[in-house]
Amino acid sequence: MKLLIDDADIAKIKEIYRYYPIDGVTTNPSILAKSGRQPYDVLAEIRSFIGAEADFHVQVIARTAEGMVEDAHRIVKELGQNTFVKIPSVPEGFRAMQILTSEGIRTTGTAVYTPMQAYLAAKSGASFVAPYINRIDNMGFDGIHVAKEIQDIFRSNGMATQILAASFKNSQQVLELCRYGVGSATVSPDVINSFLKNAAIDAAVDAFVADFEGLTGKGKTMATC
Ligand code: E4P
Repeated sequence: MKLLIDDADIAKIKEIYRYYPIDGVTTNPSILAKSGRQPYDVLAEIRSFIGAEADFHVQVIARTAEGMVEDAHRIVKELGQNTFVKIPSVPEGFRAMQILTSEGIRTTGTAVYTPMQAYLAAKSGASFVAPYINRIDNMGFDGIHVAKEIQDIFRSNGMATQILAASFKNSQQVLELCRYGVGSATVSPDVINSFLKNAAIDAAVDAFVADFEGLTGKGKTMATC
């Protein structure tokens, strides 16, 4: 499963990249709004940092299929062909996905709450569909179950579309979908930073260092003892 960062804060993105093997970045209009910067300024900075080959998912704003296609052309022109254009999985969006697919532009069906949306986005040529795990949970349904159902539909029908699971609130949700073999998960920096919040891990490392320093002296390492 690929692991992406769901944020546009370049400082947070750099910090997470420093420690973890990350495959790319996703943004949405609300995330961009939080940055307080002009959209293409922040998006170009992210692209330049993550490199031309990394997965980058950027969302359209227009509400009509024709407008979405225009947004997509600008997104790909500014950020490179290897950018997945996120398109809401609504009727105008399905039309836009079909047009863009015929032009060779890759799309991600977003705002997915139901397996039917995912199925239609896949049929419309989307490379990814993004079910919103936590938001589905908050509606009183089971987001993980919805994502698994989508994965089953794709597998049963031999569809090449992959899941880009989104909107996570904890590490267990991410792991559960990793176990199920979904293609990608996009996760906020806060949740990624919680992956290893475990006192037992820190205590084990501290004990190893203390034992070694007891033998060799304070501050000594395998390089300096
Ligand atoms: C990704 O495609 C979504 O825009 C995003 O993950 C939604 O996350 P949220 O529910 O935490 O806002």
